[in-house]
Amino acid sequence: MLNNNQCMTAALDIMCVLCSDLQVEAPERVTEGHNVSLTCKSSCTLTDRATFIWYRNSQPLTERRDRNNQLLLQSVRREDAGRYSCALHGHSYISPAAHLSVTYPPSSVSVSISPSVIVEGDSVTLSCSSDPNPPAEISWFKGGTFVGSGRMYSISKISSDHSEEYKCKSINEHGEKYSDAVTLNVMYPPRSVSVSISPSVIVEGDSVTLSCSSDSNPPALNFSWFKGGMIVGSGRIYNISKISSDHSGEYKCRSINEHGQKDSAAVTLNVMCEFFY
Ligand SMILES: *[C@@H]1O[C@H](CO)[C@@H](O)[C@H](O)[C@H]1NC(C)=O
Ligand SMILES: *[C@@H]1O[C@H](CO)[C@@H](O)[C@H](O)[C@H]1NC(C)=O
Ligand SMILES: *[C@@H]1O[C@H](CO)[C@@H](O)[C@H](O)[C@H]1NC(C)=O
Repeated sequence: MLNNNQCMTAALDIMCVLCSDLQVEAPERVTEGHNVSLTCKSSCTLTDRATFIWYRNSQPLTERRDRNNQLLLQSVRREDAGRYSCALHGHSYISPAAHLSVTYPPSSVSVSISPSVIVEGDSVTLSCSSDPNPPAEISWFKGGTFVGSGRMYSISKISSDHSEEYKCKSINEHGEKYSDAVTLNVMYPPRSVSVSISPSVIVEGDSVTLSCSSDSNPPALNFSWFKGGMIVGSGRIYNISKISSDHSGEYKCRSINEHGQKDSAAVTLNVMCEFFY
């Protein structure tokens, strides 16, 4: 190896032909928006005319003007992070790289949900993604209440009670940010299926409406009507115009969505003869 004493201090541009002790001095980290200066240190004797070349991630920084042996980065951006090295113009030796890390608060925070279609009873995982440097601590909120921490939040055997808003908070030393709230849309088959009859007192010749109601997600669009065991109609509303005693009997409805089906309890239709009325 050559040492500095072997550097030649000729009075020309090439002061230090064999100089191989360049070193970048830089802080390890700088906060976004701040100014930072990097210095290319050398123990060689250099003239005023010596110019430096800077590299980031091995790419020469053509757009930046250096002042003496310093590289000034003003109002640092995230893209300025990288491995910096320097060289003397006209010389092939390149200094070892110094890593400059740019720190910043979380700027985009978002929640992703898996699986994308959630059916009651499923296990569901929420993931919080955010990008700050240094990495964030994540906490989770359901409604406004803290429910857990860590990048992932899992719910086993989800029920429709979980159809509430969740959000995550990303925080590091530079700031904090909440994600938008996400609502878990928990699907479930029909339940609480019931039939209502109108009017409540039915006389022969009346028009009678049977309505089926049920609670499901998504709402049931497919309904079937049964009298005895026989299917007699479809649709949420079953109308009987000009009812007669032949229509007396036990009715029930079946509510169907893509996650299942359920029958109502049977309701009895009693048709009064006009005679008794
Ligand atoms: C960065 O340098 C510029 C130009 O010298 C100056 O105007 C600005 O205030 C500096 N910013 C900070 C955060 O020091
Ligand atoms: C309603 O459900 C029945 C039974 O699953 C099915 O046969 C029928 O095609 C469905 N009708 C509609 C309109 O989806
Ligand atoms: C059932 O009857 C009611 C009242 O007469 C009427 O408003 C409704 O449109 C009817 N529905 C069907 C599906 O026929």
